[in-house]
Amino acid sequence: MRDALIEQAVQVLRRNDRGTYTVPTHGLYPFQWNWDSALSALGFAHFDEVRAWTEIDTLFAHQWEDGMVPHIIFHERDEGYFPGPDVWATSRKVPTSGITQPPVAAFTVRRLFDRAKDKTLARERAKALLPQLHAWHQWFFRARDPKGSGLVAIIHPWESGRDNSVDWDIALLRVPTDGVEPFTRRDIQHADPAHRPTRAQYERYIWLVQTFRSLGWDNTRLHDASPFQVVDPGFNAILIRSCADLADLADQLDEPDIARQSRDLAERGSAAMETLWSRAHGQYLCLDRTTGSLIDSPSVGGLLAAFAAIPADRAASISRRIEKLGEAAQFLIPSHDPTTAEFDDLRYWRGPAWLIVNYMIADGLLAAGQSDMVDRIIADSIRLIELSGFAEYYSPITAAPCGGAHFTWTAAMVLEFLASPTTGPSLPQLSGSAMG
Ligand code: GLC
Repeated sequence: MRDALIEQAVQVLRRNDRGTYTVPTHGLYPFQWNWDSALSALGFAHFDEVRAWTEIDTLFAHQWEDGMVPHIIFHERDEGYFPGPDVWATSRKVPTSGITQPPVAAFTVRRLFDRAKDKTLARERAKALLPQLHAWHQWFFRARDPKGSGLVAIIHPWESGRDNSVDWDIALLRVPTDGVEPFTRRDIQHADPAHRPTRAQYERYIWLVQTFRSLGWDNTRLHDASPFQVVDPGFNAILIRSCADLADLADQLDEPDIARQSRDLAERGSAAMETLWSRAHGQYLCLDRTTGSLIDSPSVGGLLAAFAAIPADRAASISRRIEKLGEAAQFLIPSHDPTTAEFDDLRYWRGPAWLIVNYMIADGLLAAGQSDMVDRIIADSIRLIELSGFAEYYSPITAAPCGGAHFTWTAAMVLEFLASPTTGPSLPQLSGSAMG
């Protein structure tokens, strides 16, 4: 069974491979997405290290001059996606969107580097990427933390990667819908509308895009101009983890300045993260930067904080919290608390389980010594695949596959769970004949 799953995962990656980048899935997402690519590279590395490095190189070839790495790169025209390059109008030679996504790339690069069989190639690629990764991290603290709080805000729900999370509901109501140009959604032609965000949410998403576009995508202005500014613990944990990983990598590659600066950013971020802790919920919460209040929404974003180094008692509390969620859900980890009124087991980030999130939380909890919970998360992840294939996401109640099928990062995470030397203490290692 394990070898068959590995073989299928490899096939999904190959099917979505466009040579120098990978699409998340045919139809629904026909371009390169930022954090999808970074996480998918981990999958490629199991059977083709060169291809894994190329995925990251392609992503960073489209970094903006100010340091931002965009959330979508529109390598080819495809009318089946909205909002396409004409809506974003970012005036790039190869068109891109104008916002970013969770900066998981430095974590990936470090992992690729640590595990590389071809050490010469890894050194060369990692060394070339180091300043680019660092520039992106610095951009975050400049453009998305202008008051120097130590934590960055997202200014559009799509930046979080958790597009329609309950976490954004109240802040999103502050975004108007007047002046939104008429549009036709394409996502609901590829996926069940009951699994996707609502029309009302889409109008607000597009209002933000139009507003940023009217400001010429000038990142020195966008943060303050946005009526949506949310500090997401999951997003910040990814940034903090990436800064810490970049620091270690920079030490190994003899770049002491990058190492020192990255370590400073990670330390400041970790200290500030503690302001997001909710004793009542036993997890971290989002902060609405516009109002200055924590958002009372116990979502998986606050659990994903475990991806960064957090105090041991916090990790234990997060582990207990996941255990509690498991009493109401058959499959870990629901993206929202199933006991709340907002929970919807099928609708995207309002309840479904996602393997990439499971992977990052498991990785963090493993480092924090929570190995029983890690075993459970991995076992549930593999059960979802066995029952429902390589879907975009799954009902945590019934395991129903949702969104797009043959999904790249889901397949990459399966390779990580089943073939990785650093996850799954209870999963025996594979010799890898299926990996060829
Ligand atoms: C959706 C997800 C986002 C992902 C993208 C491509 O927008 O919410 O996290 O990057 O699809 O898979």
